[in-house]
Amino acid sequence: MKRVFLETYGCQMNVADSELMAGVLQRAGLELVDRAEDADAVILNTCAIRENAEQRVLGRLGDYAHLKLANPALIVGVAGCMAQHLRAKLLDRKRVLDLVVGPDGYRFLPELLRRAAGEPVAEVRLDRDETYGDLEPKRGPGVRAWVTVQRGCDKFCTYCVVPFTRGRERSLPLADLVRQIEHAAAEGFREVVLLGQTVNSWREGTDDFADLLRAVGTVDGVRRIRFTSPYPTDFTPRVIEAMATTAAVCEHVHLPLQSGSNAVLKRMRRRYTRERYLEVVGELRQAIPDITLSTDIIVGLPGETEQQFQETLGMVTEAGFDDAYTFKYSVREGTPAERIVDHVPEEVASERLQRLIEMARLQTRQRNASRVGQVHEVLVERPAKRGHLMLARTRQNFLVLVDVPRDCVGEYRRVRLTGTTGSTFTGALEHPALVVI
Ligand code: 5AD
Ligand code: SF4
Repeated sequence: MKRVFLETYGCQMNVADSELMAGVLQRAGLELVDRAEDADAVILNTCAIRENAEQRVLGRLGDYAHLKLANPALIVGVAGCMAQHLRAKLLDRKRVLDLVVGPDGYRFLPELLRRAAGEPVAEVRLDRDETYGDLEPKRGPGVRAWVTVQRGCDKFCTYCVVPFTRGRERSLPLADLVRQIEHAAAEGFREVVLLGQTVNSWREGTDDFADLLRAVGTVDGVRRIRFTSPYPTDFTPRVIEAMATTAAVCEHVHLPLQSGSNAVLKRMRRRYTRERYLEVVGELRQAIPDITLSTDIIVGLPGETEQQFQETLGMVTEAGFDDAYTFKYSVREGTPAERIVDHVPEEVASERLQRLIEMARLQTRQRNASRVGQVHEVLVERPAKRGHLMLARTRQNFLVLVDVPRDCVGEYRRVRLTGTTGSTFTGALEHPALVVI
C-alpha cells in the first residue's frame, strides 16, 4: 500500500480537508497520485449537504467497483460528511468499500488504510477537540491558500446536516493559524481564504474574528484576505471595523441569506429577521462602501408559501446582491426539518427556483454592466479554459479575462473593465499596469 488517489467533492472546506489528508499521508511516507488507475487506495472526500451531492458520490463508487474488479487489492475509502452521515450504512456496501472515515478521523488515516487492507474499517467518532491545528496541509497548486480556521457548527439550522456530520464548533488556535499562513505566504500563495461554517464566530479566549483578521493582515506577502462563510449576526461592530481597517481584507462578503421571509427564517432556526439582515448589510456598506455581496438562498423549505417566496425574491433587490447561489431544499435524514410534513410539491419548488435564478441573474448582469469602464487591481490566477487569455480576479471578486503572458500568474495588474458577459468581464491593461508591491 503505497500510492493514494484523493478525489474531492463539495465545498472549499472539503478541498482544505483533502489538503490536510494529503499532508498526513505524505508525512507517513505514502505517495499521492493523480489517477485512480495508478493507486493502491482511492479516497473520496464527500459532501452530504443535498441529496444530489450524495447521488454523485454513489455513482462514482460504482466506477470504483469496476476498477476493483480488475484490481481486487484496491482499497476504496469514503471520507468526509457523507461518510459521517451514512456511517455503517456505507459499510454495508462492503463489496466495494473498505474504509469509512469521518471528518475527525483524518489524523489516523495511514493506520486506517493499513487496517483496511485486511478488513473493512469505520472511524466515525466525532471529537470535540480535534482541530488539526498542528498539522501542516499539503496545499494544491494556485495562488489561493484555503485555511481552515474553525471546524464544525453549533448553529443547527433545521434543514442542515452539517452540525451532525462535522460535529461541534471549534476554533483553531491563533498561533497555529499565523504559522500556517506565514508558511503559505513563504511558499508563494498570494491570497488567503479563511474557512469555517460560521467563520466569523471564530474565537480563542478573548480574541475574536476581528483579532484574527488583524493578525492575518500583518503576515508578510498576504495582500488579499477573504473568508467564507460568515453568519449574518456574527458580524459585530468590532469585526466590521477590523474588516474596514485591515488593508488586505477584500471588499467582498458572501453572506448567506437562506430566505427573505421571517416566518421561513424562524422555521429554519436562523437567528435573524430580514430586517436585521438588512441592517448588517447596511453596516457593512457604511464601513466598506464598495463592498460586493453574494449569498446563498434555499427555496421550497416545507411550508414555504408563494407569499413567503415573494419576500425572498424581494430581498434580492433590497439587499442588492451581486451574485446568488440558489438551492432547492433537499430533505436530510436526521435533521429537524425532516419532521416538518408540509412539503412543497417538487414542481412548485422547481418553478420557484427558476424564477429566483432568473431574477438574480438579471440583477448580476445589470450590476456588472454598470461596472464596465472601472479600473481595478486584479490578481492573475490561471489560464482561462479557452483561448490564450488569463483569468484574473478583482478584490471585489469579479473574474476578468486579461491578455497577459502565462508567467504572470500570482502577479497583480491594473486593468480597465472593457465588457461583461453578464457574469465575467473582459479587461484591458491600464498604464502603468504593473502593481509594485
Ligand atoms: N437543502 C438545500 N440547500 C441546503 N443548504 C444547506 N443545507 C441544505 C439543504 N438541506 C445550502 C445553504 C448553505 C449552502 C452551503 O447549502 O444555502 O448556505
Ligand atoms: Fe448548516 Fe446553518 Fe451551520 Fe451553515 S450555519 S453549516 S447552514 S447549520
